[in-house]
Amino acid sequence: MTEANNIVWHASEITKQDRTSQNKHQSPVLWFTGLSGSGKSTITVALEKTLFERGIRSYRLDGDNIRHGLNNNLGFSPDDRKENIRRIGEVAKLLNDAGLITLTAFISPYREDRDKVRQLLPEGDFIEVYVKCSLEGCEARDPKGLYQKARSGEIKGFTGIDAPYEEPVAPELVIDTENNSVEAAVSEVLTFLEERKYI
Ligand code: PPS
Repeated sequence: MTEANNIVWHASEITKQDRTSQNKHQSPVLWFTGLSGSGKSTITVALEKTLFERGIRSYRLDGDNIRHGLNNNLGFSPDDRKENIRRIGEVAKLLNDAGLITLTAFISPYREDRDKVRQLLPEGDFIEVYVKCSLEGCEARDPKGLYQKARSGEIKGFTGIDAPYEEPVAPELVIDTENNSVEAAVSEVLTFLEERKYI
């Protein structure tokens, strides 16, 4: 839905197909979702590096980074998280059309918001990757000290503590980061992409 009137879509002469043919790979959106500290950012950084070294064009969108710019007017209320994910979904859609593989690392705690992104993208181009780690595991890592702040009440509405995380119901991939290394996670994603002929 748009609030603007009198706007007309202006098509390119280069199609997504032209771009993916030139790149010699498809442009799926790999949507990494999971609790804070589950390993989303670590895995996507490592994956991006491996893809780059193999000449595969990808781009990473990360929660903390995007909230420094595009989404710096959003907080962590349910409505703001929804808007955060909606905007990222639209950016991912542009990157999908641009022929790049997108790696997103957002908690994206609401199933409905993730499903909306899935619907926004062409069939088969949304790959939900559940970065699975128990709350206890994430809290033990607490890389930014945020769980400690949430427990003491310094941060309100922290995912997993006093704000919900809705686990994916049928993700394309589940990566257990409690029992696996970053290298194993990257290799699992690469195998998936190769087997399904995305790369
Ligand atoms: S969301 O829920 O998808 O809109 O969140 P996201 O954009 O991924 O941002 C998550 C990072 O923000 C920090 N942070 C919080 N996370 C959860 N709840 C609250 N209240 C909160 N406040 C700040 C935190 O560093 C998250 O980073 P990750 O990388 O997930 O640990």
